[in-house]
Amino acid sequence: MRFTGKTAVITGAARGIGKEIAVQMAEEGAAVVLIDVRDAHETARQLQSGGAKVLALPLDITDYDAVRHAVDEIVAWNNGIDILVNNAGIIARGNITELTVETWLKVMDVNLNGTFYLCKAILPFMIEKRYGRIVNVTSIAAKTGDITAAAAYGTSKGAVNTLTRSLARQMAEFGITVNAVAPHAIETDMSAEWPLEKRKAVIDSIPLKRMGTCRDVSEAVLYLASDAASFVTGETINVNGGYLMD
Ligand SMILES: NC(=O)c1ccc[n+]([C@@H]2O[C@H](COP(=O)([O-])OP(=O)(O)OC[C@H]3O[C@@H](n4cnc5c(N)ncnc54)[C@H](O)[C@@H]3O)[C@@H](O)[C@H]2O)c1
Repeated sequence: MRFTGKTAVITGAARGIGKEIAVQMAEEGAAVVLIDVRDAHETARQLQSGGAKVLALPLDITDYDAVRHAVDEIVAWNNGIDILVNNAGIIARGNITELTVETWLKVMDVNLNGTFYLCKAILPFMIEKRYGRIVNVTSIAAKTGDITAAAAYGTSKGAVNTLTRSLARQMAEFGITVNAVAPHAIETDMSAEWPLEKRKAVIDSIPLKRMGTCRDVSEAVLYLASDAASFVTGETINVNGGYLMD
């Protein structure tokens, strides 16, 4: 039980990778806060019936005032926040001629600004505790450029990688680590929309010859959030079946 006594906030926790991170964190003893624009109450009930302490908060992470209020509520709920996993994200398809300005701004708002808002609102409480773990879920697209998405997606994730390293430097003196996990080709609703041919091509290009699972990603996130990773900061762990080795 690596997270007994810890409070973990996970964004985008209603489904996919975020839900798996929340489930595994709860299995390992954390009190978990499920943040999502989608309803996460059913997941919360499942976890509670297994004995976990859970709070489901409907929240749009692009609304900074709402984020600040939610953070105050969470801090009061379980006496602070130890772990923040910025996992919520959206993707857009198409090349630059098809990508509208509105879509570009929306992707930046959720993937980059939302991550910044959560960090900004939660870090003062971590600084006060002299303890914190932040893990940002970025993407292989941050390093390779977009493979299947519009340019806004990889650009936003690249910016989050840079934010990760910047915060890692600034927060180290307070005992707070900031890291990232960069998945590729994970079996979720986000990748379910791929046409069959694209899915086959993606699997063929991966040395381990399969799609990744949400648990593959959550295992890496939990490692970075655990005390086993206390000397790791500013790092991005690839979870990509060997597609990119850097
Ligand atoms: N699935 C993949 O292959 C893959 C690959 C690389 C990176 N990722 C990243 O992993 C993360 C999770 O992806 P997933 O595949 O589980 O996606 P998903 O679409 O299944 O889940 C994302 C969740 O984020 C929530 N969300 C979206 N906008 C939000 C907002 N404004 N406020 C609060 N919540 C919001 C959604 O409601 C959803 O529940 C994303 O950041 C994604 O970019 C996924």
